[in-house]
Amino acid sequence: MEIQMWRSILEPYALAVDELKVKFEHIREAYRKDGLYSPIELVDGRVKSISSILEKAQKKHISLDDIETQIDDIAGIRIICQFIEDIYIVADLIRKRADMKIVEELDYVKNTKASGYRSYHMVIKYRIETIHGPKDIFCEIQIRTLAMNFWATIEHSLQYKYKQNMPETLRTRLLKAAEAIVVLDREMSLVRGEIMDAQNSFTVKSNVVADILNNIQNLYKVANKREVVKIQDEFFKIYQEGDYDALTQFAKELDIISEGYRAQSLG
Ligand code: GTP
Ligand code: MG
Repeated sequence: MEIQMWRSILEPYALAVDELKVKFEHIREAYRKDGLYSPIELVDGRVKSISSILEKAQKKHISLDDIETQIDDIAGIRIICQFIEDIYIVADLIRKRADMKIVEELDYVKNTKASGYRSYHMVIKYRIETIHGPKDIFCEIQIRTLAMNFWATIEHSLQYKYKQNMPETLRTRLLKAAEAIVVLDREMSLVRGEIMDAQNSFTVKSNVVADILNNIQNLYKVANKREVVKIQDEFFKIYQEGDYDALTQFAKELDIISEGYRAQSLG
């Protein structure tokens, strides 16, 4: 097949990856804007390279005509979570969506692969709109923790380096490291509640601070300078004292003041 041909085949996959990345990133932002802990920490995506597609087709004896129906990871999304529990929350979230149809689910978190690899895999069917009409795209979603991702990234590089000939000692080391990752994820789960609380209050606080600063900035345009400077000084004072309740109270009062100016300027 010609390169030009490949480009037009892969273009819809690039669109699917872009759209899915945006959607998952917005889920994360939606949690954070509500001041909530997000089960999604990071989102990554890629379209499989032509050479990897060819390599896989050859290995699995797939003819070039069947590539789109037989290779289900041309579009790939990776969702990284902080904790194991989050993986299942994200999987649930995906199951409930109307725009993603589950084709396959593989739990390599509970069923570790012989290599030591752990991840939760989902293959979904996702509809995009092209200039030629709608097209259903397969996409592989890998959901894993930061620790699992660390291991998989290292192991993948070593696999790539040694191909089929990874030295036995190295393989054993990787298995040991995989076991350590299991322990690490388990230990982290034990402090998940505390970390969630800390992150919740952090996002709530940063949202409040953003609101206050936004209001102050708008007040500069409409209110008396001296008054705004006074408000700003008061904000810094409360902020430095670190009293969260006082900060929320201050934000509320500032909202009322801002609302007053807005009403005036509209009237
Ligand atoms: P393919 O899709 O052809 O790879 O076969 P499969 O459907 O049995 O794939 P599987 O679900 O086992 O793996 C799909 C993807 O998961 C791979 O393309 C890798 O990205 C990742 N993966 C699977 N096994 C391993 C592993 O042992 N190490 C690493 N680093 N990644 C793996
Ligand atoms: Mg697969």
